[in-house]
Amino acid sequence: MHFITALVVIVAIALHVCAETRVFTLNVAYTTVSPDGFAQPMMLANGEIDYPIVVNAGDTVEITVNNHLNVSTSLHWHGLFQNGTPWMDGASMATQCPIKPGGTFLYKFNVGKQTGTYWWHAHHQSQYINGLRGPFIINDPKDPYLSQYDYDVTMTLTDFFHNGSAYLLSKVFYIPNNTNAFEPLPDSGLIGGVGQYNCSVSQAHNKNCVNNNPLKKYTVKPGKRYRFRIINTAAQARYLFSIDGHNLTVIESDGVYTNPTVVNQISIHTAQRYSFILTANETCSNYWIRAEMVDTWGLASYPNGLNFDVRAILSYAGTPNEDPTTSAATVTTALNPYTLGELNGLTTDDLPDNYNDTLYFQFQYGPPTYEYPIATIDIEGDIESVNNGTYIVPSVPTLKTFLQDPNFNFSATINPYYVNNEEWALTSVNPIDSMEHPFHLHGHSFYVLEAGKLLHAPLTTATLARRDTIQVPACTGGKGSTGETGCTQGFVDM
Ligand SMILES: *[C@@H]1O[C@H](CO)[C@@H](O)[C@H](O)[C@H]1NC(C)=O
Ligand SMILES: *[C@@H]1O[C@H](CO)[C@@H](O)[C@H](O)[C@H]1NC(C)=O
Ligand SMILES: *[C@@H]1O[C@H](CO)[C@@H](O)[C@H](O)[C@H]1NC(C)=O
Ligand SMILES: *[C@@H]1O[C@H](CO)[C@@H](O)[C@H](O)[C@H]1NC(C)=O
Ligand SMILES: *[C@@H]1O[C@H](CO)[C@@H](O)[C@H](O)[C@H]1NC(C)=O
Ligand SMILES: *[C@@H]1O[C@H](CO)[C@@H](O)[C@H](O)[C@H]1NC(C)=O
Ligand SMILES: *[C@@H]1O[C@H](CO)[C@@H](O)[C@H](O)[C@H]1NC(C)=O
Ligand SMILES: *[C@@H]1O[C@H](CO)[C@@H](O)[C@H](O)[C@H]1NC(C)=O
Ligand SMILES: *[C@@H]1O[C@H](CO)[C@@H](O)[C@H](O)[C@H]1NC(C)=O
Repeated sequence: MHFITALVVIVAIALHVCAETRVFTLNVAYTTVSPDGFAQPMMLANGEIDYPIVVNAGDTVEITVNNHLNVSTSLHWHGLFQNGTPWMDGASMATQCPIKPGGTFLYKFNVGKQTGTYWWHAHHQSQYINGLRGPFIINDPKDPYLSQYDYDVTMTLTDFFHNGSAYLLSKVFYIPNNTNAFEPLPDSGLIGGVGQYNCSVSQAHNKNCVNNNPLKKYTVKPGKRYRFRIINTAAQARYLFSIDGHNLTVIESDGVYTNPTVVNQISIHTAQRYSFILTANETCSNYWIRAEMVDTWGLASYPNGLNFDVRAILSYAGTPNEDPTTSAATVTTALNPYTLGELNGLTTDDLPDNYNDTLYFQFQYGPPTYEYPIATIDIEGDIESVNNGTYIVPSVPTLKTFLQDPNFNFSATINPYYVNNEEWALTSVNPIDSMEHPFHLHGHSFYVLEAGKLLHAPLTTATLARRDTIQVPACTGGKGSTGETGCTQGFVDM
């Protein structure tokens, strides 16, 4: 079965909504699909790539997950605060035991005052890479931008692997002292669950492949205004997103309304979301939608034929069904994730003079401090650590241990930090790593205070960005094969 839909479902704006209980059933199972023309079994909910969950502000959500896989799983609702229901967060062995094969779990929570663009994904090992992910949209009847768009469309961006995530982990990462470990290469990129793959590269190991898979087409009506919600659901890829011939007015990042900001390129990192308004007022034609995958691997050549130039089509209704001939505009206005201020948000003047807590997280390639554990990612002979400790999946969910004994002395392999309600915690994230990494905090959004390189200049008092996922700049200028030795550290304070 080819999973291709030329028709895109466009949701007209609902004006009248009442909070209620929304019930969903996610039957999680292997389904063979070919999102880029290459057929393979993927872990999907209800047989669909990007199965959407759409609710309204204030709703109570009941999601029954039936695990028809042959492995355990759990599902996380990325960006939702789970205020009062932390045990519904879905992080395997942190907030719950995974759902066994054949098992069922009911996730029940209230979305509270949160609105905007989120996503759900498996939170057991690296399973979401195999397809167990999708949008989670909370419509807002009080959306301050509601009068400025006519239609609401969700678009996912992801990287796609022909090898299963369990295979990638076992063969690439979870090998003790593996000096040849390398972040796995995706085989293609997908927009809206659709991409293309060069089958001649795959002939050796799979004949079930079709070239020139039709790209995803987003049809717009001339003169109408569209709110597009883009969600990066990738394992690793950051994308440079643009639409030929059109400016994009950004209005939301990670579920937070932003000041309206006109750009012609959006850099979107893993797990981040943006909404922008596009006015379909250009010449009636077809235009390329571009999601240029940023090359974080830096190889001289890509034996799997990975094409970084990922595309879809924006088509004005009535235009002939042919490929666009448009070219990308020069990037004049790129989105800055650190300064994209929250609409009516706080400025630095509103921050407290003293923080109640200061949390410091240093990521690095550290010496192997602990015995080789199942959850450790062992790269280039070193174990990655946070504050000189390597996380080892506990045998009892951390939240359960804490609820049974709030004084429990957790080991350094779990390393919880404690903050109290109503406190301000200054959090500094500081990697010693030659790659830029996104940082996400479950259950919260944070204000982005400053970002850059150590020994930085202080930020000016623009409105602060508030979001739940931010990229932390790489440590650059170092020596050695990985560049970590003696590099200048990037940081984000939040
Ligand atoms: C589970 O099923 C998938 C798809 O049939 C298969 O590729 C995989 O090897 C199985 N895994 C286990 C642990 O049995
Ligand atoms: C999985 O990875 C192995 C090792 O890199 C490779 O030989 C094989 O072709 C890959 N399988 C698929 C289906 O891509
Ligand atoms: C990994 O290397 C370290 C240091 O050489 C050694 O002590 C340890 O036993 C090795 N671990 C395994 C599982 O081989
Ligand atoms: C597909 O891969 C083959 C083998 O590497 C190469 O010769 C060919 O040019 C590629 N086709 C495209 C359209 O990139
Ligand atoms: C995009 O905005 C820039 C300035 O903000 C403007 O110069 C340019 O003409 C606009 N492009 C389109 C296609 O509207
Ligand atoms: C299209 O709409 C945008 C946003 O309202 C506006 O800035 C731009 O000038 C318009 N372009 C044309 C060709 O009318
Ligand atoms: C947090 O610090 C502020 C001062 O910055 C203080 O007023 C407040 O009581 C503290 N909150 C708690 C829970 O300690
Ligand atoms: C990291 O932990 C190891 C083992 O506990 C210790 O020997 C080492 O000094 C620590 N390094 C730093 C920088 O704290
Ligand atoms: C935790 O460790 C501290 C310091 O070593 C000790 O005082 C305390 O009794 C321990 N708590 C528990 C519950 O074991």
